[in-house]
Amino acid sequence: MSIQAADLIRRYPIRQIVLSEEEIRNRVQTLAREISQDYRGGDLLLVGILKGAQIFATDLLRHLSIPAQLEFVSISRYRRSPEVKEVQITQDLQSEVALKDVLIVEDIVDTGLTLNFLVKLFAARKPASVRICSLLDRPALRLAEIPLSYVGFDVSEDFLVGYGLDYQERFRNLPFIATLDFDDSAVYPVPN
Ligand code: IMP
Ligand code: MG
Repeated sequence: MSIQAADLIRRYPIRQIVLSEEEIRNRVQTLAREISQDYRGGDLLLVGILKGAQIFATDLLRHLSIPAQLEFVSISRYRRSPEVKEVQITQDLQSEVALKDVLIVEDIVDTGLTLNFLVKLFAARKPASVRICSLLDRPALRLAEIPLSYVGFDVSEDFLVGYGLDYQERFRNLPFIATLDFDDSAVYPVPN
């Protein structure tokens, strides 16, 4: 473990590092290589989903060897009941997607409801293709069946933070992905 990671573990309420900074970096580079090969000659538009996928989408873009655009969309989800979740787009794309190769970039696919909504929304705008790249996949909690073209890692049901993933808007800055060491109801000490 790096000195920096050891220091962060001491100062943050972290139970366990699930994916190290190095594991994430290597996997992101591999995904970027695959995507660069698959989309050679295409007109690639990466669409990152705010805010969780911001860091992943940017790192992915940085490692692509083909021309690509990057945009972000923002969505909100309303939970009417445990089963019914409604998704709405609160910040849309700035560019047209017609005839582009859209690759939606997500941090983690859980129920799949967010992506189910976005894929349908973009598909209706007649792009050349729409596919999904998610850093993490949690198939155990899937409600909507959606094909994932690129997946970084499969993960268990434990709630995760770091590398863009948050708990109440915190912990996105951690360079690794980790589980937290407190209950939902507990107040955690702010790291210093
Ligand atoms: P779903 O696939 O529609 O259920 O939603 C996935 C979204 O929920 C992700 O984009 C994350 O923003 C959030 N999410 C799901 N699991 C986690 C987690 O373990 N940590 C942080 N955010 C999560
Ligand atoms: Mg998200």
